[in-house]
Amino acid sequence: MSAAVAQTSPTRAALFPRLGSLLAIAPLGVWVAWHLWENLYAWRGDAAWSARAVDTMVTAEGRVYTGNPFGATLVSVVVFAPLLIHTAWGLRRLAASKPNGYRFFGNAKYVLQRLSALGLLAFLAAHVYLARISPALRSPTGHESFEDLASHMRHHPPTLVVYLLGVLGTTFHLANGVYTAAFIHGLAASPRAQRRMQALSVALFLLLLGVGWGAVAGLFEAGSQFLPPTD
Ligand code: HEM
Repeated sequence: MSAAVAQTSPTRAALFPRLGSLLAIAPLGVWVAWHLWENLYAWRGDAAWSARAVDTMVTAEGRVYTGNPFGATLVSVVVFAPLLIHTAWGLRRLAASKPNGYRFFGNAKYVLQRLSALGLLAFLAAHVYLARISPALRSPTGHESFEDLASHMRHHPPTLVVYLLGVLGTTFHLANGVYTAAFIHGLAASPRAQRRMQALSVALFLLLLGVGWGAVAGLFEAGSQFLPPTD
């Protein structure tokens, strides 16, 4: 191995853990919070939800995608690339998981962070397939329609349960992750700072869960005006 490579390897080895952790907070975590918030527009009906959550306008002729042409690239850079990097990082951390010396609360959080990561992996795969990949093959907007999502939420109990659990897992994983990231990056060094960060993490979890479940409730409520899905 050349001297140049030997010198850069430690830097690269240190960069990946930091990148995998920081990208999960921003832009990924920030985008997740925004995404949950936008879905609250379900309470205002199809036109409002479509405009805010999926950049689609409902016209007399049908649905038109109104997003700017850079929208897809932006989502790839802000969401999918950080998600892939974080998932690769997370899977390595999962493989390295071992029994730890934390007390009950700390240990429960350690285990739940890993369980929620596995749940998220399954949830995100299903969510991205149903909300983006499958509609892209069938509809001109490339997004799942309000009617499709709301009627499944209302009349198809497995959809409702998966979204409730998916939002629970995502919001716990993100809020608890904010605490662990602050700890790892030295922002919560003293016991006092740790207590404060813990309180912030719990408040963030409850807030995000309220917004996310509020959006699911909005879609469930709106689903009553649609017939049960045929698929
Ligand atoms: C919306 C998607 C996701 C968001 C917003 C997110 C966010 C976070 C955050 C903020 C952390 C804390 C980072 C740190 O401790 O430095 C974290 C930790 C973690 N994430 Fe994710 N994550 C997501 C998806 C995933 C996925 C799909 C996996 C892969 C299975 C995963 C695996 C992990 C693991 C194992 C940890 C714990 C690392 C440790 O404490 O050692 N995450 N996540």
